[in-house]
Amino acid sequence: MMGALLETLDVHKQFGGLVAVSAFSIRVESGEIVGLIGPNGAGKTTSFNLITGVYKPTRGRVLFDGRDITRLALHDITRLGIARTFQNIRLFKDMSVLENVLVAQHMRMGTNLFEATLRLPSYLRKEKHIHEQARALLAEVGLDALEGDKATSLPYGKQRRLEIARALATEPKLLFLDEPAAGMNPQESAELMDFILKIRDQFQLTIVLIEHHMQVVMGICKRMYVLDYGVTIAHGTPEEIQKDPKVIEAYLGAP
Ligand SMILES: Nc1ncnc2c1ncn2[C@@H]1O[C@H](COP(=O)(O)OP(=O)(O)OP(=O)(O)O)[C@@H](O)[C@H]1O
Ligand SMILES: [Mg+2]
Repeated sequence: MMGALLETLDVHKQFGGLVAVSAFSIRVESGEIVGLIGPNGAGKTTSFNLITGVYKPTRGRVLFDGRDITRLALHDITRLGIARTFQNIRLFKDMSVLENVLVAQHMRMGTNLFEATLRLPSYLRKEKHIHEQARALLAEVGLDALEGDKATSLPYGKQRRLEIARALATEPKLLFLDEPAAGMNPQESAELMDFILKIRDQFQLTIVLIEHHMQVVMGICKRMYVLDYGVTIAHGTPEEIQKDPKVIEAYLGAP
């Protein structure tokens, strides 16, 4: 069997006395869209933070593309090909749509200050290339006409797309989306689902998706994991998850 693109082995995270994530072991194969669901406070965002390097696990290991990334710094993890969006949109508020993407690209290209200050030909070539790529990326997510607008002047759904474009600018293999459909109406959620499928194919991504909108997760994920109080209480196909008594109880409370 081929190795998984992502594998977490018995990952734990404790904050003081609170076990936020316990024995978290997931496997994600290349090209999959995998769901991560569970009630509020279940540990979903914390598990993203543990994989992307925001937090270090108290125990356990994270393997990406066959490599142990458990102790790597955030930017090294980004460079290896993991990107994410945030539950509460994080954009540079005073920057334009284009500038938000450019910042992410500079992080990846490693433009150095010496080159930039002297405006060396090497820098100018890189700069032109970066601008072209950023514009192409904005066109892919349907925001090219708005490149000069201030990021925060965009309607909510478009800010979400910009955040995804910015994540794509780091050229990830694996993309984590933390509640991308939050605050969207059914029409917007349906568009978002098509959009996620489109970018998966176009950029050959593997995606892990946290989402409370059940029609979104069930619609685009063939497999999902369910967390409750930090514990993985179920994993399986949407059909299996929907009729799992432990999942029903977690969502509806004890009968
Ligand atoms: N930095 C932190 N310090 C202390 N406790 C934290 C920290 N981050 C998260 N927690 C706690 O860990 C638990 C899991 O939180 P997490 O944000 O991962 O949940 P979630 O499943 O993403 O919930 P939601 O659906 O509300 O976003 C919660 O009890 C939360 O209060
Ligand atoms: Mg969360």
